[in-house]
Amino acid sequence: MPHDFAAFDTILAADRFADRHIGPGTAERDAMLRALGDASIEALITRTVPGAILTQNPLDLAPPLTEGEILDDLRIFAAKNQVKRSLIGLGYHGTVTPLVVLRNVLENPGWYTAYTPYQAEIAQGRLEALLNFQTMMAELAGMAIANASLLDEATAAAEGVALAHAVHKGKSTTIAVATDLHPQTRAVIATRAAPLGWTLTDIEPDDIAAIERAAPFALVLQYPGTTGGVRDLTTEITAAHTAGALAIVAADPLSLALLKPPGEMGADIVVGSTQRFGVPMGFGGPHAAYFATRDSLKRHMAGRLVGVSIDAAGAPALRLALQTREQHIRREKATSNICTAQVLLAVIAGFYGVWHGPDGLARIATRIHLAARIVAGAATAAGFTLRHDTFFDTIALETGAQTDALMARALAAGFNLRRIDATTIGITLDEAITHAELKSLTTLFTTGAEALASPLAPLTRRSAFMTAPVFHAHRSEHAMLRYLKRLEDKDIALNRSMIPLGSCTMKLNATAEMIPITWRAFADIHPFAPADQTEGYRALIETLSTDLARITGFAAVSLQPNSGAQGEFAGLLSIRAYHAARGEGARDICLIPSSAHGTNPASATMAGYRVVVIGCDKAGNIDLADLDAKISQHAEHLAALMITYPSTHGVFESTIRTICDRVHAAGGQVYMDGANMNAQVGLTSPAAIGADVCHLNLHKTFCIPHGGGGPGVGPIGVAAHLAPHLPNHPMRDDAGPATGYGPIAAAPFGSASILPIPYAYIRMMGPEGLREATSIAILNANYIAHRLAPHYPILYTGAGGTVAHECIIDCRGFQATTGIQVEDIAKRLQDYGFHAPTMSWPVPGTLMIEPTESESKAEIDRFCDAMISISTEIAAIAAGTMPRDDNPLKNAPHTAAELTATTWSHSYTREQAAFPLPYLTTTKYWPPVKRVDNVYGDRNLVCSCAPMTDYAAAAE
Ligand SMILES: Cc1ncc(COP(=O)(O)O)c(C=O)c1O
Repeated sequence: MPHDFAAFDTILAADRFADRHIGPGTAERDAMLRALGDASIEALITRTVPGAILTQNPLDLAPPLTEGEILDDLRIFAAKNQVKRSLIGLGYHGTVTPLVVLRNVLENPGWYTAYTPYQAEIAQGRLEALLNFQTMMAELAGMAIANASLLDEATAAAEGVALAHAVHKGKSTTIAVATDLHPQTRAVIATRAAPLGWTLTDIEPDDIAAIERAAPFALVLQYPGTTGGVRDLTTEITAAHTAGALAIVAADPLSLALLKPPGEMGADIVVGSTQRFGVPMGFGGPHAAYFATRDSLKRHMAGRLVGVSIDAAGAPALRLALQTREQHIRREKATSNICTAQVLLAVIAGFYGVWHGPDGLARIATRIHLAARIVAGAATAAGFTLRHDTFFDTIALETGAQTDALMARALAAGFNLRRIDATTIGITLDEAITHAELKSLTTLFTTGAEALASPLAPLTRRSAFMTAPVFHAHRSEHAMLRYLKRLEDKDIALNRSMIPLGSCTMKLNATAEMIPITWRAFADIHPFAPADQTEGYRALIETLSTDLARITGFAAVSLQPNSGAQGEFAGLLSIRAYHAARGEGARDICLIPSSAHGTNPASATMAGYRVVVIGCDKAGNIDLADLDAKISQHAEHLAALMITYPSTHGVFESTIRTICDRVHAAGGQVYMDGANMNAQVGLTSPAAIGADVCHLNLHKTFCIPHGGGGPGVGPIGVAAHLAPHLPNHPMRDDAGPATGYGPIAAAPFGSASILPIPYAYIRMMGPEGLREATSIAILNANYIAHRLAPHYPILYTGAGGTVAHECIIDCRGFQATTGIQVEDIAKRLQDYGFHAPTMSWPVPGTLMIEPTESESKAEIDRFCDAMISISTEIAAIAAGTMPRDDNPLKNAPHTAAELTATTWSHSYTREQAAFPLPYLTTTKYWPPVKRVDNVYGDRNLVCSCAPMTDYAAAAE
């Protein structure tokens, strides 16, 4: 190569993506290391990570690509997918994402980088968007209340089954499932039922006697049925009630714009996918499921629920209601492990409803129904018979000997149809169908035929839905644009300031990682499209799985779980299947440290395990003596230990290898919760610490944005002996081993459409960049601990006096001297423009701070300055210069309205309230509400939209 080309390449190579992803540059790193007294970053790492598990070997990954190169690389995968018009149905449909929503929500970091709205005051925008979603879904379903999303239709149905069992008064262990349920829904229910000893009985439509014979605790129905049939479900639902069961109906929400809703037929629970409300199919996900129920069951509902309350000034304000932290509170008694859900997708679906309104939805549904009638007319005119005379969007055609030829002709014309069986074809029409496509479809059969008359009259919807003003007020694009902006501006997301949430890893979600997910070749692929049309996805999945296997040190990876908690459940099922295959199925004890995340015990219970809690010592480490005692007490029944590493206390426990060895010696398996993987990548690995299986939260360490509470992806990696026991899927042979235990998610590869994000992250960082990111995450956390230590006690440190990638500061001491509680500090941070760190978890009265590698020293210093300034305010209260009951912390956050009101009667000035540090005069975030009253909201539970004035009046 000529000399100047080499020089060119050297300059080009200096332009590394890792330098954009990682916040602190060389000078900032040096300054932080000097403050810590470490000579180098390696010195800090050696002091922090136990030598027994620290590796110097570089990760076996491809060298880094630039942002331009990764897009070219992903285009190659995309080109290997074939985008056909998939009219397969089965719960996945072509849809049209309103472009104003696509650009301003799905492609907007103001929405996609937000965190779960636990801090309600800085999350009013997304809470309102979710309230819209809840209102829309409850009213479409004809139910009293709906939650703010679940993971997918199949798991939502399984959650309904769990609820039905929790409230069941009898002894039934039978789940009756309609034979016209989507097959993936049935399969997920079966996987969830097996470890709990529940069995499934198939029931033909309208077979009331079979329901009576089955005497189930739950009856699960599909509306319209999987092959398109629509029938009144009232008698089946009544039969379920007579048998003492709850009736769960999985319903297509768009059909409900025209059809009598299941709630009016007596259903207890209505679930379904809102994918066709503007969210692309994406080879299976992510999409938001909805879950709606009767008022009397609302306190048993899984997932998060947005409710209306008031703030400290009596103004209406939203916040998460009731069981927000269900698994944290109820742990192994929780009936569900759901944590991360599908908030961003629910927000999009909600905005789809806002954009179209009830009349728009009805128009779309009517158009789809007409398209189905037109195709049905052509098919019947050509002599084919319909399996169901009453249909909405799906027709099932008895095509006999012509089935193969018809399928082939359809494919040649660009359509994927569903082969229901050897002699039946399913065609599901959707919103995206064009005049030309419709013509092309009818010519598969005959031209010139009339559309069939609508068969829906007896089941026509009569009740109104989506009557709230929000569903009528934003029809022009300007109105919508401004509504979206207004909501976005109420919230703090990563595009405003760092979100230092411990255990949540709110790192950069780079633009280059996000761009490919809306490409048609990734977005418009049906999860059950023929395998030869999805080779690009397949290759992407294989490459990402290999990369993740190398990062974790494991033999195999399943990408199916669509959240961390789903990964936990999947991994525990792998352990369960492994023990059973060795004739040790009686092992059913799962050891879990007291510091574990609430999803751990909840998942263990779902996997049929008995949970035994292991204590922690004063340093926050697992109490080895207690571990030994519990192991010997339960040796014969020991199935697994679940452990988070570094621990949820934010330290690398030096005894980790010993802990794993002892569990193995007793015949148990080690499950590692990978939520804290951001402290491991490239420095050590789950395999190196001795684990057998772990989940990764790709929505933490691997850059999938948090989306305000989802989507997530929680793949599991397993050692070779567990590889035969991974999830698989009935609709795709290559989604897992033939010896697997069935699916745990509706789609074969879970939330496939967002896999380009972690793939791009890993490829752009390369092996060195990933190790560097981990090291800087640890440096940043230790620098914060160092700066805050004089003002707030650091609760736990490891053997070398350092923390891992996060630190816990103890705020409990302030209560006695000043009356200040940790919540006051969290709310005061909002006045400083920051989202609070994780509050009161895993230790009540503390804040857990995780800066990630993506925050610069300047941003970290700004946060530390804010925390130190707050500590000075606390000191003033302690010194008696500020009253205990009237100070900037107790009254936080402060709104613009109160600061500009005529009267100001506080012991401190308006300036102190709003601008306590100089940077705030130029970059001020204004909280839209004062502190939200949780108790009021739970006492007066309102979980759907109504004119806001109603709530204001109620508060007076
Ligand atoms: C330690 C730990 N384990 C498990 C989970 C559950 O993960 P997910 O929310 O993706 O279900 C979390 C989530 O924050 C966590 O912090």
